[in-house]
Amino acid sequence: MVVVAILAAGRGTRMKSNLPKVLHSLGGQSLIERVLESSRALLPSRQIVIVGYQAVEVKAAMQSIPNLEFVEQTEQLGTGHAIQQLLPYLENYNGDLLVLSGDVPLLRKETLKHLVQIHTEHNNAATLLTAQLSNPKGYGRVFCNSENIVQQIIEDKDCTPTQKQNCRINAGVYCFRWQDLAKVLPHLRADNAQKEYYLPDVVSQLQPVMAVDVQDYQEILGINDRLQLATAYEILQRRVKEKWMAAGVTLIDPNSITIDDTVELQPDVTIEPQTHLRGNTVIQTGSRIGPGSLIENSHLGENVTVSYSVVTDSVVQSGSRVGPYAHLRNHVEVGASCRVGNFVELKNSKLGDRTNVAHLSYLGDTVTGNRVNIGAGTITANYDGVNKHKTIIGDGTKTGSNSVLVAPLTLGNDVYVAAGSTITEDVPDDSLVIARTRQVVKPGWRKKQKTED
Ligand code: UD1
Ligand code: CA
Repeated sequence: MVVVAILAAGRGTRMKSNLPKVLHSLGGQSLIERVLESSRALLPSRQIVIVGYQAVEVKAAMQSIPNLEFVEQTEQLGTGHAIQQLLPYLENYNGDLLVLSGDVPLLRKETLKHLVQIHTEHNNAATLLTAQLSNPKGYGRVFCNSENIVQQIIEDKDCTPTQKQNCRINAGVYCFRWQDLAKVLPHLRADNAQKEYYLPDVVSQLQPVMAVDVQDYQEILGINDRLQLATAYEILQRRVKEKWMAAGVTLIDPNSITIDDTVELQPDVTIEPQTHLRGNTVIQTGSRIGPGSLIENSHLGENVTVSYSVVTDSVVQSGSRVGPYAHLRNHVEVGASCRVGNFVELKNSKLGDRTNVAHLSYLGDTVTGNRVNIGAGTITANYDGVNKHKTIIGDGTKTGSNSVLVAPLTLGNDVYVAAGSTITEDVPDDSLVIARTRQVVKPGWRKKQKTED
């Protein structure tokens, strides 16, 4: 049985931010959400977040995550002091405690599982994750015997120059036998360079404590400043892109593309340069996205093309073409084999199959049928300054260039709207509607004017 505790009370001074460090976003998810997610693979019986600095904000940001407990560390006196706060909450608990840092967001689930497995197999009092770094600066150094049994951890700031030469570092990820830890926690002392109660100090009082080297040292990167945040993003991007390329996705100029790790792509999708895929986006096989596009929380069917466009919270069915320069937002549904063209904005609207909105249009709160052709420059006037109104357009209807459809409005099936019309009343099936002033031609009018001059 394992309880997970995540350290998230620290101030994160080096971020120089008003936002608590653990709430900084890394590829669409906060640091702490990422830590929580990787720990979930262990099916913990409880998940406890230790909050302190800006506790209200941290709690509010995680309100919607189920089964989280918060424990407050009102004064931030160190990582050991933070874990001391758990004593009253885990009084009769007999299992293991996995301690994670809210600022170490790239840990793989497999790594945590491996750590806990080694801990159980060897019946250790504590097992901690370590790494051998060529530049160990800033991290606590781990001193072991030849059997990976830990003798001592010394913080960077407390190391002698010789101790600093040790490249084996503490990742800040520990699995403890809780009853053993609970006995030694109250005896921590703050006699060190930072005058803090250090959690790593417990290792010299526990027996045995084992160090497990992480295979990929990039996983244990701690985020203390903006440069490390950017480095973590690069690592994350490399992981995500390598995964999708191995799965049959073509990325043209991968360095110019960003893909959140929540996105799903099918084989034979092609992503062109300067394209960004975010949130819960799914793109099906044969689709070609970009260049220069942003797709967020959207589902694109098979063989869809999108170029130089922004698509958010929308669905585009198979075979449809979007762009260049289209903006789909706020729950748009584009049917199959449609064309949404140049300089077109669609908002909260539905297009039936084989419907075209090819040039310079705005459709808001509109439902169109199948095989509709929206002429160049057609605009729905859906907002009267107070309320939004709906426009319904039947199958096979065509609107002429530069028509204005004043909502609420229903155009039936196979209606023709004459170019330049402003339509304010419903139109029945199979009609031609013209709503513009008739053209007046006055022959010879110019000549007459000239003689008067
Ligand atoms: C810590 C370890 C160090 C390790 C490194 C790995 C200690 C003393 N040192 O150093 O050995 O190599 O992590 O990244 O533990 N926190 C609290 N309450 C506090 C202080 C900190 O909750 O009173 C939280 C922070 O919010 C953070 C985590 O604990 O999430 C680590 O604290 P931080 O100050 O970043 O420790 P490091 O100096 O990185
Ligand atoms: Ca840190």
